[in-house]
Amino acid sequence: MFYRTDTNDHGLPHDPFKAIVSPRPIGWISTRALDGRVNLAPYSFFNAISDKPKLVMFSSVGMKDSASFAIESGEFVANLATAPLAMALNRSSAPAPRGGSEFAISGLTEADCEIVAAPRVRESPAALECQVTQSFTPIGLDGRPSENVMVIGEVVGIHIDERILRDGMVSMELAEPLSRLGYLDYAVTREVFQMRRPREADASDLPTAR
Ligand SMILES: Cc1cc2nc3c(=O)[nH]c(=O)nc-3n(C[C@H](O)[C@H](O)[C@H](O)COP(=O)(O)O)c2cc1C
Repeated sequence: MFYRTDTNDHGLPHDPFKAIVSPRPIGWISTRALDGRVNLAPYSFFNAISDKPKLVMFSSVGMKDSASFAIESGEFVANLATAPLAMALNRSSAPAPRGGSEFAISGLTEADCEIVAAPRVRESPAALECQVTQSFTPIGLDGRPSENVMVIGEVVGIHIDERILRDGMVSMELAEPLSRLGYLDYAVTREVFQMRRPREADASDLPTAR
């Protein structure tokens, strides 16, 4: 099948777009507003976008608290979402009652960061302390703004729980990261394999076209 997205008439019961751009890593974003309020919420529009400097971004559908707190304070933390924390992560996606914190309603503990004022999730085995470098509204082909606000931050400090280190490397088999698929689906990475990049093009091991 093929469909154009200007009409989006895919004829399927649900829009398949996000199911195709998957699995997406989940940035579990913690922030502290200037008035001290703490916030925690998952964002699957999240990824690393540069290594030098180390930059990550999350994208908010509308100006939600995570984006607004990150922009006003200039800081956020991206905590690693893992399978044992799936229920807590899901709970933290519900808006907290007035005056309450998603940490409390999710049964999670705030841990102090080293550089930024926002707390990190103590139960998460890795966290990226970030300082905001840019925030903007991406545009479509017609120049019209998307409904999203994209927040980019430079990673200024990294926490790693040594329980997820094996032979000095972060082991995703030990961490069991959670990722977001389409619809209501999630995946857990439990199986990992290695491939070394070839030094030069070599098609001898490719299947022959029929
Ligand atoms: C796994 C998962 C991924 C999500 N990803 C996004 C996302 O990328 N962008 C977004 O705006 N909302 C996303 N949400 C919904 C937000 O987490 C939810 O609206 C939350 O209440 C926002 O909280 P905040 O206003 O405190 O930032 C996601 C929810 C879940 C459960």
